[in-house]
Amino acid sequence: MLQRPRRNRRSEAIRGMAQETHLEVSHLVQPLFLLDGRGIRKEVASLPGTFRFSPDEAKKEVESCLKLGLRNFILFPAVEESLKDPHATYSYHPDNFYLRVARELKAEFPESCLISDVAMDPYSSDGHDGLVKDGQILNDETLPILARMAVAQAEAGFDLIGPSDMMDGRVGAIRRALDENGFTQTGIMAYTAKYASAYYGPFRDALDSAPKSGDKKTYQMNPANAREALIEAALDTEEGADFLMVKPALNYLDVISLLKQHFELPIAAYHVSGECAMMIAAAQNGWLDLEKAVPETLLSIRRAGADVIITYFAKRYAERR
Ligand code: PBG
Repeated sequence: MLQRPRRNRRSEAIRGMAQETHLEVSHLVQPLFLLDGRGIRKEVASLPGTFRFSPDEAKKEVESCLKLGLRNFILFPAVEESLKDPHATYSYHPDNFYLRVARELKAEFPESCLISDVAMDPYSSDGHDGLVKDGQILNDETLPILARMAVAQAEAGFDLIGPSDMMDGRVGAIRRALDENGFTQTGIMAYTAKYASAYYGPFRDALDSAPKSGDKKTYQMNPANAREALIEAALDTEEGADFLMVKPALNYLDVISLLKQHFELPIAAYHVSGECAMMIAAAQNGWLDLEKAVPETLLSIRRAGADVIITYFAKRYAERR
């Protein structure tokens, strides 16, 4: 045998030189669930190890992540039911605690990168990402609401706006609104290929944001489709996106790879709540070693082509490096 691939696996040092893909803390984004109040750190039952933080606790959490070199955060608000309405008006209300937290975090930790969430669902009494009328999710009528939400978030100091709603034309509507209001430097991380997935369960528990009726299949993508992601990616690129995201990550590694081959913008992958929860559940049963499974899983998302990974394991990975 002239070729013996095992020679390149002989030692740690040789394996290191031959390693094709790397995973650094700088590639990771830690999601943070926020709720109003003080001194609250409440674990999400369906996602052990992940908490909902009041603003003061969120600051401590961000500080401890920064000490580990983890600088990127995506923030989600858990909004009290009484503040929700059909038009999601609380999303841009001047007293909105989510915007307040972002403003305070940015002032205290300017070196951090804060990513927002733009969608109506955490603020909507219907629990949908768009405006609901007669059981339909309206597209064009939703866009001004999303644009207004995005401008309020840019004003609060978010570095990247994260439209997760999957309405048509929202990246363009948000880009125009940001520019008109002077936020030409605020970027957009577009949820480009977001699938109607069963893996968002723990997230909806954390935010109490499940749809009150129906499902999200008229706006989130059909899990059977990959080519359709190319259409979405072309539109988001034209409309001014700065990052293209695929979500979830693990069942959609082929889609990550496809976008990476066809587009030049950086690709983000969202390793979603249900994907993390099933690994944690297996580990709790002693069926899986999380110490080994987490780096392998995150590396596989990188290998597929993701530049950025949003994962509930970001801090955990940073702690163990
Ligand atoms: C909502 C939103 C969802 C997630 C991020 N933004 C859930 C949904 O679409 O219902 C899911 C993230 C996760 O499961 O970790 N706009």
